[in-house]
Amino acid sequence: MLSFKELALNRQSTRSFSDREVELEKIKRICDVASLSPSSCNSQPWKMHIVRPTYAKINDLRKACQAVGLNPFLDNVTNFIVIEQTFGNMKSKAGGFFSNNDLNSIDLGILAAHICLAAEEEGLGTCLIGSFRNKNVNKALNFSSLQRIRLVVAIGYATDGYEIRKKTRKNTEDIIDVIE
Ligand SMILES: Cc1cc2nc3c(=O)[nH]c(=O)nc-3n(C[C@H](O)[C@H](O)[C@H](O)COP(=O)(O)O)c2cc1C
Repeated sequence: MLSFKELALNRQSTRSFSDREVELEKIKRICDVASLSPSSCNSQPWKMHIVRPTYAKINDLRKACQAVGLNPFLDNVTNFIVIEQTFGNMKSKAGGFFSNNDLNSIDLGILAAHICLAAEEEGLGTCLIGSFRNKNVNKALNFSSLQRIRLVVAIGYATDGYEIRKKTRKNTEDIIDVIE
C-alpha cells in the first residue's frame, strides 16, 4: 500500500489515456472515499455524477470541456466525474460571510483532491478540468441551467509507459512560514 507521500508524488495530471475499460466499481469506490472529505460545517455541498462511455452525449461533454481551445487530450477520455455544487447549509454560508470566504468552493476543491488521490490508489489517472463552457456542460448532461458544475474530472488508465513527471513546485522555504 502506498504511503500518503507516495500517492501525492505519483498523482499528476494525466493527459494521455489508454482505451482500457474502466471498472464502474472502481469509480464508485473513489467517489465513496471522496465523500469522506471534510467540508465547512459538514455542509457537503456536492454531488458527483459519473459519466460512462455508454452515455449517448458523452462527446458533447468532451466538446464542452474543449470549447476554450484547451484539453485536446480529452478525445481519448471515456469516463468523467462531474462535480456539481449543491446547496451547502446556512451555517457554512454564515461562517463564510463573516470570514469573507467562499467556503463551499474550498469544500469542492478538497473533494476534488480526495477524488484524485483515491483514484491514484486505485491505479487510475485523473485530470481536473476547470476550463469548460458551463452552459454546454449542462446541456450535454441534460441538467437545468440552475445546476452549477464546478469541476470535471477526467479519469481512466494512463497510456502504458506514461512517465511520472518531476513536480514543478515553489520552494517550500518560500511557502512555509513558521510563526513562533
Ligand atoms: C481547479 C483546477 C483546474 C484545472 N483545469 C485544468 C484544465 O482545464 N486542463 C488541464 O489540462 N489541467 C487542468 N488542471 C491541472 C493543473 O494544470 C495541474 O494540476 C497543475 O499544472 C499541476 O500539475 P500536476 O497536476 O501534474 O501536478 C486544473 C487543476 C485545478 C486544481
